[in-house]
Amino acid sequence: MSMRKRVGLKFRDEIAFLKGWKRDRTSVGAIAPTSTVTARKMASVVHPGSGLPVLELGPGTGVITKAILARGIAPQDLTSIEYSPEFCQHLRSLFPQVDIRCGDAFALDLTLGEKRAAKFDCVISAIPLLHLPVDRRLALVLDLLERVPVGRPVLQITYGLLSPVVALPAGYEVRHLAFMVRNIPPAQLWIYRKIP
Ligand SMILES: C[S@@+](CC[C@H](N)C(=O)[O-])C[C@H]1O[C@@H](n2cnc3c(N)ncnc32)[C@H](O)[C@@H]1O
Repeated sequence: MSMRKRVGLKFRDEIAFLKGWKRDRTSVGAIAPTSTVTARKMASVVHPGSGLPVLELGPGTGVITKAILARGIAPQDLTSIEYSPEFCQHLRSLFPQVDIRCGDAFALDLTLGEKRAAKFDCVISAIPLLHLPVDRRLALVLDLLERVPVGRPVLQITYGLLSPVVALPAGYEVRHLAFMVRNIPPAQLWIYRKIP
């Protein structure tokens, strides 16, 4: 792809993002798409040899979706859940073979439908959590951990200093993966997993 076309597509993504952000700042949560460096770091936790599909939450403009596919995940093995119908339409045009589900990550059984009992290799989440009460954040993390094998990660990006949920020693551990300075705004990556 030519440099001009690439710059044009990136610009289109940023415009789409800003429009979404103006409409609904709370659920979009950031002021710019995730940087490519951050998206690659997030996708680095995917284990392409696991034979399991991957679950993505809050794909937005699709930067992280692209990084997950670049890890060698077949598009049909990626399920991405996005709340905004505009982003869903945009994502479907970019990734026609990815299973883009337009719905709520907090109602996963409903949004996943026939896939609700599926096990995923990991979950990569960019949905904003910090504006929510802690019990809702915790309920989501516990729900997500039930959908991956013991020891496999639920990865969350956030823009606060601390993890949106604390570790539950009897339930799961929290690990700080990285502080991404090359992101607007700078972001923290957290991993939650059940201890084997
Ligand atoms: C910080 S943005 C993600 C940005 C994305 N990584 C990108 O680079 O474009 C958060 C995304 O999560 C979506 N979102 C927020 N709450 C959601 C929910 N409950 N279920 C599904 N998607 C949600 C928003 O619509 C938005 O696209």
